[in-house]
Amino acid sequence: MTEGKRTNASGAEERQKEYMDRAHDALAVITRAHGRPMRASVVTFGCQMNARDSEKLRGILSAVGYELTDNELDADLVLYNTCTVRENADLHVYGRLGRLTGLKARRPDLIVGLCGCMMQEPGVVAKIRRSYPVVDLIFGTHNLFTFPELLYRILTEKKRIIDLWEGTDAIVENLPVKRTYPFKSGVNVMFGCNNFCSYCIVPYVRGRERSRRPEDILSEIRGLAGDGVREIMLLGQNVNSYGKTLERPFSFARLLREAAAVDGIDRIRFMTSHPKDLSDELIEAIAETPKVCRHLHLPVQSGSSRLLRAMNRHYTREDYLALVKKIRAAVPDISLTTDIIVGFPGETEEDFRDTLSLVEEVGYDSCFTFLYSKRTGTPAASMEDQVPEDVAHERFDRLLAVVKRTGEAASSRFQGETHDVLVEELNKEPGYVTGRISQNIVVHVPGTKEDIGRIIPVVLDDCRGFYYFGTRADLH
Ligand code: 5AD
Ligand code: SF4
Repeated sequence: MTEGKRTNASGAEERQKEYMDRAHDALAVITRAHGRPMRASVVTFGCQMNARDSEKLRGILSAVGYELTDNELDADLVLYNTCTVRENADLHVYGRLGRLTGLKARRPDLIVGLCGCMMQEPGVVAKIRRSYPVVDLIFGTHNLFTFPELLYRILTEKKRIIDLWEGTDAIVENLPVKRTYPFKSGVNVMFGCNNFCSYCIVPYVRGRERSRRPEDILSEIRGLAGDGVREIMLLGQNVNSYGKTLERPFSFARLLREAAAVDGIDRIRFMTSHPKDLSDELIEAIAETPKVCRHLHLPVQSGSSRLLRAMNRHYTREDYLALVKKIRAAVPDISLTTDIIVGFPGETEEDFRDTLSLVEEVGYDSCFTFLYSKRTGTPAASMEDQVPEDVAHERFDRLLAVVKRTGEAASSRFQGETHDVLVEELNKEPGYVTGRISQNIVVHVPGTKEDIGRIIPVVLDDCRGFYYFGTRADLH
């Protein structure tokens, strides 16, 4: 295991491209011996950042000669790109590894790899070393770009490889990517997080904030537009602090405007915004740039100023509500969504009621609600007054009821209006397709697979809670 290794990007790209060629040759020999293409499956857990990383891993696997499959039971190489933000995510991976152990007993050639956030936790890796011999390859978030080299080694060395770095300054550009959707794509703008919210493990497993250079981001976006991508999602743990640490600082607002100037890109989304860093300049840029979608995900976490302080969020309930007011004044048709944690240590009934009343007051379009999960190594894990499980569950259910009621009321405000829908996929219901309006609300509408990737006008005539059934305004 390589501990504490750091690298800079110079030369890394060429080196990995060389390894891609070597892995390609090694795999060709194996493929010939089997008399059929070798198949690989990458399974993603967690957030949009992981989904984007998985596209990079698939790009490398495909360039090396693997056929990609969604069915891990049918694959010769299975790679789990893991998440560790809550304990449930970890437990899920252990469960699935148990299943793969059975599969490998029948197919000893199967290669099993693990990467992603969970692997940056030493306790997890110790457990896997000890108890999961099924795993052949482990790497982490900081050395994802060395996957070609690790792949070459696992194909040729036939022994377990564990390669984990404590951090990296590198941002390696231009490795291949296999996109999941032809018409939309994530674009990383920054990696890591410096906020250290007291419950959150992300800063420990993703490292310090690093922004990509604007010219690299914009050239990627131009390339995507050339490939037919119409919607991009700019990705970072805290996009509002994008560019502050660049040699020549560059604001996120400016990046949004420049991305919008790229021909062929019709929609721009971004995730995630931290309320403490959301500038007036950004609000202005959203308001003035029609291509920027009318949707802001603005995690509040709690409605109690006392808990927000304990969470190290750097804003109060009043600050947050004032920010919402300011955003709505500038962009009246914006849709707001949020993340909320229930059962943070020390949460009293009064704190929790503050959260309920904040949800009522803001009227979010939807909320992602989470039971607090204790993450070893974070400050909150050693706080006194951990909330008993039954109390947290009871509050969680009460919150869900409020979220449902207020969310349905908010989502129904578009009833009867005509909105552009970017069609994303066929619906399970035959004859229907599913897409999203700028406000990110899901719409089902009559259509065929030819409509996928198109932006079509739809009358939102039937609100069913958080989504709509619509009729097409382009066909009559
Ligand atoms: N427990 C529960 N939820 C958490 N989140 C982050 N860490 C934890 C934790 N320890 C939630 C936050 C964050 C979202 C991505 O996950 O709400 O915004
Ligand atoms: Fe975690 Fe807070 Fe960083 Fe989000 S901003 S990743 S919640 S530490």
